[in-house]
Amino acid sequence: MNKTKNYMLSLKWEEDNLLILDQTKLPEKTEYIMLKTVKDVWEAIFKLKVRGAPAIGIAAAYGLYISIRDSKTKDFKEFYKELKANSDYLASSRPTAVNLFWALKRMEKRAQESKDKSMEEIKRDLLMEAHAIRDEDEAMCKAIGENLLTLLKDGMTILTHCNAGGLATARYGTALAPIFLAKDKGWNIKVFADETRPLLQGARLTTWELLQYGVDVTLICDNMAAHVMSKGWIDAVITGCDRVAANGDAANKIGTYGLAVLAKAHNIPFYIAAPSSTIDIDTADGNGIVIEERSEDEVSCGFGRRTAPEGVKVYNPAFDVTPNHLITAIVTEKGVLRPPYDTAIEKLISKKE
Ligand code: MRU
Repeated sequence: MNKTKNYMLSLKWEEDNLLILDQTKLPEKTEYIMLKTVKDVWEAIFKLKVRGAPAIGIAAAYGLYISIRDSKTKDFKEFYKELKANSDYLASSRPTAVNLFWALKRMEKRAQESKDKSMEEIKRDLLMEAHAIRDEDEAMCKAIGENLLTLLKDGMTILTHCNAGGLATARYGTALAPIFLAKDKGWNIKVFADETRPLLQGARLTTWELLQYGVDVTLICDNMAAHVMSKGWIDAVITGCDRVAANGDAANKIGTYGLAVLAKAHNIPFYIAAPSSTIDIDTADGNGIVIEERSEDEVSCGFGRRTAPEGVKVYNPAFDVTPNHLITAIVTEKGVLRPPYDTAIEKLISKKE
């Protein structure tokens, strides 16, 4: 991605403060807010002011540092107890994206590794770890984009769902990374963006990001995807994901599973973009992934306007699981994984260690 182009980062660490672009205000307002306390960070994640699996992990890592930076204790055991309590608190903000737990565990491990140092040094190491999580995410996203590009050609049209762009990560995004890179190469890639009910991440965020970068993007309602596929307009579907189980089942924004079924029916490749921080080998398959359920109001009274009668029963799962057999490839920063995913994932993880 051309870094000189007008580009807004999802989060920034500036003068010892965490600033996040408040995604609930987009596309109407671009407003950075400062998160001063661990409670501010918890709330920002819970309310989707910062969202997208990798960005949630990065925000939580900084949140954990913020939670202990003013700790007065000189005793490591005491300090770690405080850190662990704050880590558990941050972990309760959202249940599905494994990056949240992954980033918090990394921070806890870093504290343990530094336990013989002075308190000031331990705190500094924790801030460095949060920076590393952010920087590594940027590098992983770029590599995912490059790996996805090998599956695409100039002139193709991609369908995507929700937002897996720079807003959901440190930079570049996962599913949107190849689109930014293709634009830099002068390729003509077109995008159809699903609106993504009920919180409209596709309409509010994906189209906003792509328009900022000069990408040709067309917004559709979620229920139009089958129609555009049947017209032969879509060459590939690419989405991000919140957790990949050890067998390749992948949780992503509600509606992704339906798209994968449609892609199969129309013989269109369906790609999942996933940094290795999103792979959870401790979860055997999709049945083990906790699916977040959110407030009824998001469906019946979204954005403040009542669209269903008071008292109607509502079911509002925020994610669904796409079974591995519907996924053409899982594209990571380390390469393109093909079925059978259990062995491909095992190989990838052992390469990492
Ligand atoms: O509820 P959200 O907006 O956090 O859901 C985000 C998604 O489903 C993304 O596709 C996923 O986190 C991948 S982001 C690179």
